[in-house]
Amino acid sequence: MPFDVLRWLVQYLHVLSGVLWFGAGFYVTLVQLPALVTLPPAQRVPAIAALGPRQVRYIVRLAEITIGFGIFNAILTGRLARLGETLGSLWGWAILIGTILAIGLYVLLQTGVKPAVFRIVAVARATQHGDVAGLAELPALAQRIRTLGFVQMGVGAIIVLLMVTARFS
Ligand code: HEM
Repeated sequence: MPFDVLRWLVQYLHVLSGVLWFGAGFYVTLVQLPALVTLPPAQRVPAIAALGPRQVRYIVRLAEITIGFGIFNAILTGRLARLGETLGSLWGWAILIGTILAIGLYVLLQTGVKPAVFRIVAVARATQHGDVAGLAELPALAQRIRTLGFVQMGVGAIIVLLMVTARFS
């Protein structure tokens, strides 16, 4: 083989899943959320109930795949076995900081985004059955999801920069 096929495949799957993860985050934050807000409540509520849980599951799975292949990729480089030398290099720092940020984003997804989306979906479903008690919570929940969306976009852009920096170091 002219090159390491396993590493090539793992790198490809890592980059592809990362692109899909952050692509979904950018799309939801910049296109879908602002579009949903313009819909009348009778259409918005079923749209949120249908999209919310699927979207969260999709993004969480992609985050796990990206991080999993990232760790596999880092092992395959052989550099983790020479930890002292690796931590003294720009490559080591870029991958280490990228890893910490990626795991931080994943924790934020699980502890911030997911509960807020599932709460919105619960309120939306209750509203469909005539229970409007939770409606007052919606603006604050929507604002929290929007803010977390922007955090994901910003940190995501930094992670990609760090990963590309690692390749150039
Ligand atoms: C636990 C988290 C992660 C680990 C351990 C990790 C590890 C790695 C490693 C070892 C490489 C190969 C660098 C090289 O070829 O020298 C890489 C490349 C890359 N990673 Fe990650 N990564 C992680 C998260 C992410 C995330 C969240 C993204 C988001 C898109 C990402 C995007 C990329 C990209 C685009 C490359 C290719 C860089 C290039 O070839 O120029 N990584 N990553």
